[in-house]
Amino acid sequence: MAWETIIATDAVPDGEMVAVPRGDGDVVVCRMGDDFYVLEDRCPHANGPLSMGNFSPPHLVCPWHAWEFDCRSGQCIHSDHAAIQRYPVEIRDGRICAEFPDA
Ligand code: FES
Repeated sequence: MAWETIIATDAVPDGEMVAVPRGDGDVVVCRMGDDFYVLEDRCPHANGPLSMGNFSPPHLVCPWHAWEFDCRSGQCIHSDHAAIQRYPVEIRDGRICAEFPDA
């Protein structure tokens, strides 16, 4: 497991999401007030780019077939068997850091 700095907190407006390119898999950062969530930017249904969809806190809506995921858990709200990966987050000196598994 390794921690990586993702983006500055003030680059993610409250109630919005921001896509962040990353070599080992793009992520999407969601903000709800002072809480930040870092999740994989890929829908488990057919690999849709979640960051191209909508964020209606706390739900991320996939642009392709409208599956919805709770950004706080990564869980799909339509199925107990579908979820997106959510990574542990820490805020360090105004930057959002996330912990990723080793490649
Ligand atoms: S690819 Fe996301 S709902 Fe189909």
